[in-house]
Amino acid sequence: MDFKKNILCIGAGYVGGPTMAVIAAKCPQYKVTVVDIDEKKIHQWRSENLPIYEPGLDDIVKIARNRNLFFSTEIDESIREADIIFVSVNTPTKTFGQGAGMAADLQYWEKTARQILANSDKGKIIVEKSTIPVRTARAMERILNGDQRKISFEVVSNPEFLSEGTAVKDLEDPDRVLIGSRETEKGIKARKEIVEIYASWVPREKIIESNVWSSELSKLTANAFLAQRVSSINSISALCEKTEADIDEVAYAVGTDSRIGNKFLKASVGFGGSCFKKDILNLVYICQNYGLYEVADYWESVVKINEWQESRFVRNILASMFNTVAGKKIAVFGFAFKANTGDTRESPAIYVTRGLLEERALVVITDPKALENAKKDLKDIKEGLGFEEDPYKAAEGSHAIAVLTEWDLYKDLDYERIFQSMVRPAFIFDGRNILDHKRLFDIGFNVFAIGKSPLKHF
Ligand code: NAD
Ligand code: UGA
Repeated sequence: MDFKKNILCIGAGYVGGPTMAVIAAKCPQYKVTVVDIDEKKIHQWRSENLPIYEPGLDDIVKIARNRNLFFSTEIDESIREADIIFVSVNTPTKTFGQGAGMAADLQYWEKTARQILANSDKGKIIVEKSTIPVRTARAMERILNGDQRKISFEVVSNPEFLSEGTAVKDLEDPDRVLIGSRETEKGIKARKEIVEIYASWVPREKIIESNVWSSELSKLTANAFLAQRVSSINSISALCEKTEADIDEVAYAVGTDSRIGNKFLKASVGFGGSCFKKDILNLVYICQNYGLYEVADYWESVVKINEWQESRFVRNILASMFNTVAGKKIAVFGFAFKANTGDTRESPAIYVTRGLLEERALVVITDPKALENAKKDLKDIKEGLGFEEDPYKAAEGSHAIAVLTEWDLYKDLDYERIFQSMVRPAFIFDGRNILDHKRLFDIGFNVFAIGKSPLKHF
């Protein structure tokens, strides 16, 4: 079959894989190829066991795979064939040199730009899909267009706003799609080509066009605002615990104001995920570079409150359990950074588990999707750690349960049975406020939730 254009995506991760699967499913007129340096991952994308878990992803991949969706390790050849290249490689926080711990590490990004240049004999549209610092398009243009052969590349920004766990739904029915370009004739022409792809299924009024810098900065800002809401409600949760106010009641009362809105007001043990912390620290670093220290400090406080919330959770466990957890078994319910994903990157569970192990607790982790990743995250731990698929077995003989991921399955467990199998006094620390606390208290548990007065039998 003749395709209208060849689309290539470099990077077959959490963003590249689902995004391209949806584009391919919705646009049979385009040939979509996804490449990665990770051969195992590409092999998995071609198999029945996809490398990531996302509700609905298997079905979408099945619609398009081997029709107009292909996964490959032939990066150079795929670049040569492509008209439009989405770059969706990882952009983690830099761990070395200047900006270590804050700035974005753009080494994968730059390598990709050079590889595109080396394998191109015609101009192409390069789409920034990864989240990158504002003004990265300029660096990209310089690398791509600094070549003697005078091939011309247009760099377009199209940040991704999907959330893990709802990636397919977010891609099929996005709040908006943002596409930024240079405001030149060629820039606008390239932008329209990307608009045309999304317009196959996204209503035109939801496709926002802007200049390239606004697009790049909007992505960092959106993540910073979302994380700020979580830190705001979490900061108030600490005050609730001192004053007998209830954080869920406060969040409801505040969120019903239509100017504020009710989303992202769920108090928790802290936000995790691969992006919030990384993107805010990146924003902080950029502000510092421009001498905007007050702005940098403002946003950095969002991350600091989050770290404090995680450490507060561990301190509360310790204080409630008579200031010692040494030798006590604690069952961790949920290790993923949120429900409906197996992803554990920056999960608060990593911090909490390590904190409990430092206090010499015996920690058993259970999670329906994230146990493999949990094992990798904690592979350096030699003692005091176990993994168990069955939450009932994880809780057996334990002194406490800590709920760290809001999986639905934890709401419906037989807590009477669990209580009978635990050491007394039995404790539950609900780091997601998903359980029926009054009922648990009536069963006999001592219940500690985020932003609520403890329910104690002593
Ligand atoms: P990821 O680590 O899951 O995937 C990135 C992939 O790029 C990896 O498979 C890696 O092997 C591959 N890669 C790296 N260098 C390469 C190269 N030179 N050639 C080919 N492949 C290469 O990361 P992700 O979660 O998909 O995130 C990608 C980008 O999207 C990041 O900038 C992130 O901030 C952003 N983002 C992520 C999410 C999310 O929910 N995970 C949402 C929106 C935006
Ligand atoms: C987030 C954004 O929501 C996406 O729009 C963005 O594309 C993505 O980051 C990214 O750039 O990577 P994601 O990290 O997948 O998506 O998940 P969220 O639903 O935003 O949750 C992030 C963290 O905040 C989770 O740990 C979650 O449990 C926590 N959270 C969220 C709360 O504690 N309370 C809330 O009310 C909402």
